[in-house]
Amino acid sequence: MVLNRFFFFLFFAGLSSCGSGSSPKNNDALPIETPAEKGASLYTVNCTSCHGEDGKMGGSGAKDLSKSHLSDTQIKKILQKGKNAMPPMSAILETEENMDFVIQHIKTLRK
Ligand code: HEC
Repeated sequence: MVLNRFFFFLFFAGLSSCGSGSSPKNNDALPIETPAEKGASLYTVNCTSCHGEDGKMGGSGAKDLSKSHLSDTQIKKILQKGKNAMPPMSAILETEENMDFVIQHIKTLRK
């Protein structure tokens, strides 16, 4: 748990440091979704129909995400190109940033 928080902090710190020059325009829009919340809601909307909330559902022959050991790069490739019964997700996720949020979220489903 403590470790998880630490990695989340690293992830968030990394994001902020890359974002120079593109400060969010709607600072007063409350509450602001954290990357983890964004990833979780994107996952719920776009992925649970096959993978289930916990990643284990296996609809349409989907892989159990709690047992997946793919790297971020490998996951990204599947999200961009799709694989067998899984359709490409780039258009649905809209931005590379959203894709990264979802990748971070599905890694939290791992046991
Ligand atoms: C239409 C059903 C469907 C939807 C929606 C779907 N997937 Fe999948 N997913 C699959 C199937 C089927 C596979 C297995 C592909 C194969 O290896 O044959 C899979 C495999 C994967 C894998 C690879 C797991 C491994 O270890 O090989 C990842 C990661 C993944 N999906 C993530 C996602 C994410 C993130 C989303 C939402 C953005 C999503 N999927 C939406 C059906 C789906």
